[in-house]
Amino acid sequence: MLRRMSAVVVSVALLVVIGCGGGNENAESDTGKAQVQQQQPAAKPKAALKKGDPIKGKTLYMQSCSACHGADGKGIKGIGKDLVHSEFVKQKTDEELLHYVIVGRPVNDPLNTTGIPMPPKGGNPALTDEQILDIIAYIRTIQE
Ligand code: HEC
Repeated sequence: MLRRMSAVVVSVALLVVIGCGGGNENAESDTGKAQVQQQQPAAKPKAALKKGDPIKGKTLYMQSCSACHGADGKGIKGIGKDLVHSEFVKQKTDEELLHYVIVGRPVNDPLNTTGIPMPPKGGNPALTDEQILDIIAYIRTIQE
């Protein structure tokens, strides 16, 4: 009985490992990873994202984002979008927004609505992940 059980556990684990092989990042493989981690405690989960500091974020926002998104975050017509009322910002997690800001959104991206590119890191390559998370934390405070 025990042997059968462990055989089942092993084959489930194998399936999970195979399932993750494709590198797809859907919710299913996420749960898969969690199961694998239970059996291999050495494989640490990705470091949890540090919560940004909205106070630092405000300064950084003013320096790197306000030229296009406005000092009030409501966007400048023809240059940058309203972030205060952005459903996109509302719906995305901090991690997703971090990725978004790093990559930006070129005009050929189907999600681009203005025909103007959002430059990677707003055109400031010196911004670190931590600083971008600060900016995201700040944007969360001005969202309506
Ligand atoms: C040179 C102008 C410019 C700068 C600087 C800039 N952006 Fe943008 N950003 C844009 C444009 C244009 C869009 C809209 C692209 C589109 O049509 O989807 C955009 C879109 C966005 C969006 C998506 C909004 C939505 O509702 O789809 C976010 C989030 C964002 N920017 C964050 C930032 C942050 C954070 C910074 C500062 C680090 C920044 N941007 C700097 C021009 C800029």
